[in-house]
Amino acid sequence: MYLDSEDEKVLTGEYGETRQKMMEILVALGKVFNAENLIPISSAQVSGASYKTIGKWGLEWLNNLDARVVVPSVLNPIGMPREGWQNIDIPREFADNQNKVINAYKRLGIKMECTCTPYYLNITNYGDHLAWSESSAVSYANSVIGARTNREGGPSALAAAMIGKTPNYGLHIFKNRMPEIAVEVEGGDNIHAHHYGAIGYLTGSKVGKKIPLFTNIRPSRDQLKALGAAMAASGAVALYHVKGITPETKLPTFAEEPPEKIIIEQSEIEALFNDEGVDAVAVGCPHCSPDELMKLSDLLDGKTVKKPFYIFVAEGVMDSNRKYVSKIEKSGAKVISDTCIVVSPAMDKFERIMVDSGKAFAYVPNMCGATAKIGSVEECVSEALRE
Ligand code: F3S
Repeated sequence: MYLDSEDEKVLTGEYGETRQKMMEILVALGKVFNAENLIPISSAQVSGASYKTIGKWGLEWLNNLDARVVVPSVLNPIGMPREGWQNIDIPREFADNQNKVINAYKRLGIKMECTCTPYYLNITNYGDHLAWSESSAVSYANSVIGARTNREGGPSALAAAMIGKTPNYGLHIFKNRMPEIAVEVEGGDNIHAHHYGAIGYLTGSKVGKKIPLFTNIRPSRDQLKALGAAMAASGAVALYHVKGITPETKLPTFAEEPPEKIIIEQSEIEALFNDEGVDAVAVGCPHCSPDELMKLSDLLDGKTVKKPFYIFVAEGVMDSNRKYVSKIEKSGAKVISDTCIVVSPAMDKFERIMVDSGKAFAYVPNMCGATAKIGSVEECVSEALRE
């Protein structure tokens, strides 16, 4: 892989041992994937931020690093809200360890935004090269924004953040971004708004890591978010296209005829929804958008929840939408920033959790040890209001 003279100096340790190690990670990755060179990135999003996922060895690794990031960099959700973690039953020992992880990342210059929706922070644009690691964020950046990122692991995203570059392979290269399989959704002209997570869940489990092109649906931005997050969880889809909606399908060079085609049937979608009871409800996977918070505040206005109801959101979005947040909190529901359904131990005490997200539906059984039920956001609110 070609390295310029500055890259070579970093690799020989001229700028310190940490930068040298980080360059070694990028070079090793580049060699595995036959990258020709390193390309500059405009931002990084680093996973491995919850103590639940990185544990004491991850923390020790972070504490041994001695350099700062050189591009805007944020974290994936951590294991608890930084403020008010005591209100959601986080064990003190976990909180102490999580705070050590936060401090370790702060020392490296990472901005304390802990979210899987960094695209709401205005740090990326069409055509930008990124090193993001959370699967749903990667999917949204590639597909909805038209930025370019592979799905990085925590260490490779951090290495890219400290070097300001990433190996040029995979989804950074336009010709690798063409659709590989067409997806037609039965009744696609008339899809219920809340079915997009389920459609994503089914599509991801059928296409694996291929790049799908949806041919007959017209989702909104929030529905694209739900669709992509679920495909990234039940499969490994890091980029998808929706004909006439996502930006790259409008390019004259876009190839519209994938070699394969599948159909998602209405009966498969309906089969994912059922009437069984739950002991908690959680929405905001990926973290809620301002519009989703507004909708929740309308649905909960003047009402009182009877079951634990958790709503996850980025701190920046929570801060700029306080009027919706206070209306929601008056109902007894908890609006929680920084963390999420699956990376916080707060949800581990429940046995059956209702969600409105295809991604959470895929992850809750393994990550929280609970059964998952999926419904629309309206159904989630009704369930939370029921005794
Ligand atoms: Fe985000 Fe956690 Fe869901 S990281 S996408 S809220 S599983």
